[in-house]
Amino acid sequence: MTEAESQSQSRLSAELLSMIRCIACREPLKRQDDGYSCSACGRRFPEVRGVLRFVAADSYADSFSYQWQRYARTQLDHSGRSLSEHDFIKKTGFAPEELRGKLVLDVGCGMGRFAEVATRWGARVIGIDLSAAAEVAARNLVDRDFVAMQADVFELPFAPESFDYIYSIGVLHHTPDCEKAFKNLPQYLKPGGSIVVWLYSGYNKWYRFSDQYRKLTHRMSIRQLHAALRVVVPFFYWLDRGLRALPLVGRPLAGLVHHVFPVNRHPDPEVRVLDTLDWYSPKYQSKHTYEEVFRWFENCGLEAMSVAEISIGVRGRKPLTGPQNESQETLNATGAPVERG
Ligand SMILES: C[S@@+](CC[C@H](N)C(=O)[O-])C[C@H]1O[C@@H](n2cnc3c(N)ncnc32)[C@H](O)[C@@H]1O
Repeated sequence: MTEAESQSQSRLSAELLSMIRCIACREPLKRQDDGYSCSACGRRFPEVRGVLRFVAADSYADSFSYQWQRYARTQLDHSGRSLSEHDFIKKTGFAPEELRGKLVLDVGCGMGRFAEVATRWGARVIGIDLSAAAEVAARNLVDRDFVAMQADVFELPFAPESFDYIYSIGVLHHTPDCEKAFKNLPQYLKPGGSIVVWLYSGYNKWYRFSDQYRKLTHRMSIRQLHAALRVVVPFFYWLDRGLRALPLVGRPLAGLVHHVFPVNRHPDPEVRVLDTLDWYSPKYQSKHTYEEVFRWFENCGLEAMSVAEISIGVRGRKPLTGPQNESQETLNATGAPVERG
């Protein structure tokens, strides 16, 4: 690690100390040798294998613990490959210069592929994840301006208005209540800060087929499901290739099979199995529309909403305090401005 990197890391540790809060009583925490503790209520939050723990177990996210430990680096960019960077840009609309030097929260960081991009662009990132994926992210990004925590989006250990940016990619639809999970986040944005979420699309009605299969597959042991997919995914991949080679009816037929039995068709065979496992293993998987998500953003008082290149990604900004908030407070119930006496 260079001197500049280690200075930056100690800056992140100092920032963390000022913003970290007890999830039970919301009081500031004190640093100890093996984690943090709350002097007000006495709760302790240990650091184990490089990860601060705010939950005792991975709860319903155990399939993700397995998935990200098994595929720890498959989607991590490295020299000569920038697939996650392209995905990050398409799902968030972020540009490197806007994240540079900013403090960013990655909600549901998984094994850290998007935090890898954000830190490469010069951001300081705190990544939280309910599953043991947080450990994988900590290992993958050990030389970066990055802190990993095992924590629940519904109970985050931060003071309000801590972050310049918050993003959550492919996560909130895997919680029991996506809207509630989203609405918990804007409080942690600084005024003027931006939030982006990317969720599965509710417009694709073909997903109804896989929703039926998932009722069974999410109950299978993750190891059994993984073993089955290692056979099923190549089968459907080669079936797809074979059908496409047929004249005239080949392509429509391949499309029909793909919609009824969705299996990932990525060029990399490992990504195909990983992504299909990710689709069929989670206990919760909701789908959403722009109408719904825009309403959530508006309900939270966010402004300047925009959509990302890949649906459905929505971005919004927390208003700066001052005139904008005052003007919001002076609207009457019908939305018309109230005259000041
Ligand atoms: C599909 S993965 C996406 C990971 C990462 N954002 C990416 O795209 O590579 C979903 C992640 O959400 C996490 N997750 C699910 N429920 C969560 C919760 N309540 N709090 C925090 N993370 C959660 C899972 O553990 C899992 O790592």
